Amino acid sequence: MPLSKRSTLTQFLIEERRRFPDARGDFNALLLDVALACKAIARAVAFGELGGVLGNQNGDSGGSVNVQGETQKKLDVLSNDLFTRLNEWGGHLAGMASEEMDLPYQIPGKHPRGKYLLVFDPLDGSSNIDVNVSVGSIFSVLRAPEDVVKSGRDVTEADFFQPGTEQVAAGYALYGPTTMLVLTVGNGVNGFTLEPNLGEFMLTHPKMQIPADTQEFAINASNSRFWEAPIKRYVDECMAGKTGARGKDFNMRWIASMVAEAHRILMRGGVFMYPKDTKDPTKPGRLRLLYEANPVGLIMEQAGGRASTGRQPMLTVQPTSLHQRIGLIFGSKNEVERIERYHAEPAKVQDDNPLFHERGLFRV
Ligand code: F6P
Repeated sequence: MPLSKRSTLTQFLIEERRRFPDARGDFNALLLDVALACKAIARAVAFGELGGVLGNQNGDSGGSVNVQGETQKKLDVLSNDLFTRLNEWGGHLAGMASEEMDLPYQIPGKHPRGKYLLVFDPLDGSSNIDVNVSVGSIFSVLRAPEDVVKSGRDVTEADFFQPGTEQVAAGYALYGPTTMLVLTVGNGVNGFTLEPNLGEFMLTHPKMQIPADTQEFAINASNSRFWEAPIKRYVDECMAGKTGARGKDFNMRWIASMVAEAHRILMRGGVFMYPKDTKDPTKPGRLRLLYEANPVGLIMEQAGGRASTGRQPMLTVQPTSLHQRIGLIFGSKNEVERIERYHAEPAKVQDDNPLFHERGLFRV
């Protein structure tokens, strides 16, 4: 299709806005600033070693550690700076929160404050940076509480404690063989590919839909001894393939970059699991609710898929802390619903399922 026949992200957003005659344009301006941050990160990622951006933030010995206790990469810090710097000045935001910052980021006094909150993981999957495997950025937009907007006061952590159903937009940028921005503003999911010569995101994947069924699953199987029974049952049944309860063969993938995994699932179906497990009793899951599970959850649901903790729909979870971790399962609707069913009947799993007896691959 010739370039002139495709919409740019700007055109798409303006046309979307026409559905809301009262909208002033702040929301679109915010999303364009986020897109600019993603383009800047895409450039930094593309230069790799040549740009001097690989490796740990403070060298190989020790390095600096973020609030999650994870070693920060140079690109984590750079991406976080780009996100904050390119989004703080426009007057659309009341505050920001990021995986890389312990506390909420206050809009500096020299800039006006606005009515939205931006929450993000500026570089997801950062263990992949140094080995040239896909990484991404993921973000969520919430409305700031009314009193924040009225008073212009500093934001507190509690201002961000809104369930995923309250998100007004969510998206991710994937820095893979091509750079893509995938976005929902609550009216379906649309995918844009970065046209490198123009530096514009062009609409290439309108109205993305996830197939309801799949034969592909993604999980870090090295954690299998820590999984709860419903997950063991599900994976065991997938592994048993044609000869087992599911009567069909499954394939497995694990990129260790949730954004890349979400994108594959959006394109061709699949199910992703980083479930609650018993590996570290202080951590109820690996991934973070506010800037990983909720935005990916909204994208999945808007594309006809599903996202869940296994026990409740992800978007209904009431957050209680900024960097809260949670068990996350998302993807093709029928598979996620099956896993939820297995969680609803745990006793049955252990008692009745022959796969958990002698011949089970992952015995309880
Ligand atoms: O920060 C989260 C993350 O990097 C995800 O992008 C990815 O899915 C997961 O962690 C990988 O975890 P593991 O190292 O256990 O494979």
